[in-house]
Amino acid sequence: MALSLLLVLLAVVSTTLSMNPGVTVRLTNKGLQYGKQLGMDALQGQLKSVQIPDFSGSQRVSPIGKVKYSLTNIRLVNVGLPKSAVDLVPGTGVKLTIGDAFMNLHGNWRVKYLRIIKDSGSFDVGVTGLSISTTVAVKSDQTGRPVVSSTNCVANVASAKVKFHGGASWLYNLFSKFINKALRNALQKQICPLVDKTVAGLNPKLKTLNVLAKVDKYAEIEYSMVSSPAISQATLDLNMKGEFYNIGKHQEAPFTPAAYSLPSENNNMLYMALSAFTANSAGFVYNKAGVLSLYVTDDMVPKGSPFRLNTKTFGIFIPEIAKQYPGLMMKLLVRAEQNPTVTFQPKNATVQANAMVTAYAIQPNGTLSPLFVLNLESSVSANVFVRELNVAGRLTLNQMKLSLGTSYVGQFDVGSLDSVLRMVLKVVVIPIVNVQLGKGYPLPALGKMNLVNPQLQIMKDYMLIGTDVQFTG
Ligand SMILES: *[C@@H]1O[C@H](CO)[C@@H](O)[C@H](O)[C@H]1NC(C)=O
Ligand SMILES: *[C@@H]1O[C@H](CO)[C@@H](O)[C@H](O)[C@H]1NC(C)=O
Repeated sequence: MALSLLLVLLAVVSTTLSMNPGVTVRLTNKGLQYGKQLGMDALQGQLKSVQIPDFSGSQRVSPIGKVKYSLTNIRLVNVGLPKSAVDLVPGTGVKLTIGDAFMNLHGNWRVKYLRIIKDSGSFDVGVTGLSISTTVAVKSDQTGRPVVSSTNCVANVASAKVKFHGGASWLYNLFSKFINKALRNALQKQICPLVDKTVAGLNPKLKTLNVLAKVDKYAEIEYSMVSSPAISQATLDLNMKGEFYNIGKHQEAPFTPAAYSLPSENNNMLYMALSAFTANSAGFVYNKAGVLSLYVTDDMVPKGSPFRLNTKTFGIFIPEIAKQYPGLMMKLLVRAEQNPTVTFQPKNATVQANAMVTAYAIQPNGTLSPLFVLNLESSVSANVFVRELNVAGRLTLNQMKLSLGTSYVGQFDVGSLDSVLRMVLKVVVIPIVNVQLGKGYPLPALGKMNLVNPQLQIMKDYMLIGTDVQFTG
């Protein structure tokens, strides 16, 4: 017993220690209020399904004697929830309080007495002072999606006033008392189950969270929650894994997320923090998939460029090339040597990418003759932006440094190739990378969610998207 408790504790400690999130989605009070609007519409709809059973029985009334009665076809014609409030309950979830709610019901009555006298008519009931309160617990399910449940629901009906149409006045007294009581009971019994049902009705929507968001044929991003939501007085945080994986092969990146904390801004409904870890896990995954390499050929160089990928141009800088391989076209293989590294500093997103560039002369029979191998260290600035439900980027070259790896054409001054390689990066490689980055990477999202006026800022170790949201259906 003591041992198993210890093991459980160790397991808890080790998971909490190793599980910094890569991505955090924060719901603010503004977001909660928007959620309340949607929720109240749903609850109002549910409450319309209140069903009051038929009543029938008999009652002895002097001096008439036994009166058989029945109340049937009682239905809700209107329900109003004018006053409601939602508040975060630290550590638990959301408290929903509804006050001054009302309902109007309509039904038919029928009586039979003195053996032969029958009478019937209709009635209206006004239920007022209806109050409901419940706590919505927010947790993480087995798939890492949020799941909600209503706990401690309490409903009270202050009064139910009955108004009869038709019939003798003594009937009113007969019915009013017990209709009042029966209705209050029936309503009190039904309201909380309907509230619970409304809350549970959110779960299918929460299940649409893209815990495994497909990016392309190589990669997907995992957005499952790594722990239960962190709920404070002002915010509800969903801490997610935020890691890129090769599709079908979930190998952990050889680095872990650094801890970060979100600013206490609350102008937007939602904030999403995407860590440098998330971006770097993308670099790891694409590098492992072997797609961070590119053959650059002359047809990829703009027509107007004075530099051509041939032995004539390169022969200007390295005469041995023109001498050994006259009149040949060339080809460059640019391949990432390590995983590119993304660094987020306030207002500054930089990618450090080190590549190996191998230059070949293309022989007339198609054989590639290697000329030299260069190590290229580049620092590129990333402009990151939100497009629909994606985060996308655009790179521009910052700095570049060349060094010689191997030469098959004798000694030469590497610095002389600087401008050619810079041109190749600027007009060929980076534009191709930008086409990929421009397609974007899916953000965590629920169902038919749209981002309204999203803004992205680069913070230390993460980027922060502040946005309002709108659900369409
Ligand atoms: C951005 O950060 C990188 C290092 O991470 C630095 O080299 C570069 O100068 C910075 N750029 C600006 C505009 O501050
Ligand atoms: C292709 O041409 C080169 C240079 O003329 C020669 O060295 C090589 O053996 C040729 N290869 C083939 C497969 O014919």
